[in-house]
Amino acid sequence: MQKHVLIFSDGLSGAQKGRLAQRYVVHDFSDRDAGADNPDFAAALAQAHGLIGVRMAWSAQQLARAQALEAVSSISVGVDNYDVDYLSTHGITLCHTPDVLTETTADTAFTLMLTSARRAVELANRVRAGEWRAPVGPAEYGVDVHHKRLGIVGMGRIGAAIARRAHFGFGMSVSYHNRSRAPALEAELGAEYVTFDALLEHSDFVCATVPLSAATENLFDAAAFARMKHSAIFINIARGGVVDEAALVAALDNGDIRAAGLDVFRDEPIDGNHPLASRDNVVALPHIGSATFETRAAMADLAVDNLIAALEGDTPAAVFKR
Ligand code: DGY
Repeated sequence: MQKHVLIFSDGLSGAQKGRLAQRYVVHDFSDRDAGADNPDFAAALAQAHGLIGVRMAWSAQQLARAQALEAVSSISVGVDNYDVDYLSTHGITLCHTPDVLTETTADTAFTLMLTSARRAVELANRVRAGEWRAPVGPAEYGVDVHHKRLGIVGMGRIGAAIARRAHFGFGMSVSYHNRSRAPALEAELGAEYVTFDALLEHSDFVCATVPLSAATENLFDAAAFARMKHSAIFINIARGGVVDEAALVAALDNGDIRAAGLDVFRDEPIDGNHPLASRDNVVALPHIGSATFETRAAMADLAVDNLIAALEGDTPAAVFKR
């Protein structure tokens, strides 16, 4: 019997879908309504042995409709949109796409650090609006990135790639806070392991790279922003849910911190009325962390490889582990 695969979002090329179609009955909802109310989608879900896609929220209730489910392959590194407890309890393999996006996502963190420190978006907007009428003066100055102190919260692969850029490229000193120490990185970069509070108090740039979980939800709250330097710049490339956004807005309003560079928001996509969307001291990006042609293609290739391996009874290259 041929297995059934449900594609629940965009993200796969024709060739990648073709690899699945050679082996499986493919139900492609990449440009159709992948909602529980669509009877075609419900019927495909009921038959699916494998799911592949990105971004969509999968609750236990929704996953329970897929009674034949063996594997879920996410075209992302983060898996906070799946009920991971349900999947592990039911012996369903969850795969994701680490490694292939590490360097690109670290580039995004640096894009945010540089643009927010140098006020590049705010000032470029003024040029675009025809408002560059005189040489810039102190009112337009930014602050340096090089040789400052970067504090990274969450020292996984992406955190380490950011730390290397900071140390080797920008002469920055790096401190970090993480569930576990990273002795190799400490030896390589002189990175210093510190408490969360010490990191907040001493960093010029505070960069969030932690996965979203019950333990990290609202980690950056009013108390956290109050501990930061008034000159600090807060960077978030993790998930919007790790930040109390109202507290961040208040911290920016009150001058408790200088600026923020944000790639992620609690409820995406945000519109222009969102309080963080159009402030001069916030660079807000539309969750572009891994969004380059090369990296998104590599992620989709890996996700297809993962799903095929899981459905064929082989060990996928990237099974999600807590
Ligand atoms: C990831 O891979 O987790 C990116 O944030 C895209 O969702």
